[in-house]
Amino acid sequence: MSEDGLKKMIIAIDGPAGAGKSTIAKMVADKLGLKHIDTGAMYRALALKAMREGKDCTDGKVLIDLLSRSKIEIRADNRCSPAVILLDGEDVSGEIRLPEINHKVSQVAKVPEIRRELVKLQRELAAGGGVVMDGRDIGTIVLPGADIKIYLTASLEERVRRRYHELIQRGSPTSLAETKKQVVDRDRGDRERKTGPLRMAPDAFYLDTTGLTPEEITAKIVRLCDEGG
Ligand code: CDP
Repeated sequence: MSEDGLKKMIIAIDGPAGAGKSTIAKMVADKLGLKHIDTGAMYRALALKAMREGKDCTDGKVLIDLLSRSKIEIRADNRCSPAVILLDGEDVSGEIRLPEINHKVSQVAKVPEIRRELVKLQRELAAGGGVVMDGRDIGTIVLPGADIKIYLTASLEERVRRRYHELIQRGSPTSLAETKKQVVDRDRGDRERKTGPLRMAPDAFYLDTTGLTPEEITAKIVRLCDEGG
């Protein structure tokens, strides 16, 4: 693909929890000079606000009111590594990865009104192209016309191991068994919900990353982009 074509490209990356979507999406974006938009961070930021205000995460009306009073921004250009998530101007990039949020976020993401609003916002962010967007429904719902779609996954054991190490590094005490339960529960919730469930788009490339390094995975995706999908 031409350099100009690559700069306008839209890349959608979906997959289950702990597949490494955010890390890989960021690396691909940096390599190709594109913007990275981590849509999970948007759901997480709203879950954090709901938790701070003691709101019921299953009540659509309450959450819509909360969202209408929230400003969620993503700073994900080449100067920010990793991406910075701002909630009402506050940097919550670390806090949104806490285990309590892992637990609440799928409840928030299940609410159709919330998905409708956040999908709208995500499409606006991708307008004009030049983005790598990662999430659960990007290739199927948010950007079905994306130039390249990737379904990124890894074995359950590897995804649990990666998430466990991430949590330990962040200073959140947990166990492998507890991490596994959280990953399995969240995947089930994400796959079984009615609106925007986790699905592989029929025209997506299936990439099993078990045993591969982030650099190897990134190189594979960049090669697909160079070839134009
Ligand atoms: O990093 P990890 O794969 O664990 O999760 P994430 O991408 O940060 O997403 C957190 C949660 O947000 C998911 O478990 C989904 O419930 C929700 N989500 C979603 O519903 N749709 C998206 N496009 C992105 C995330």
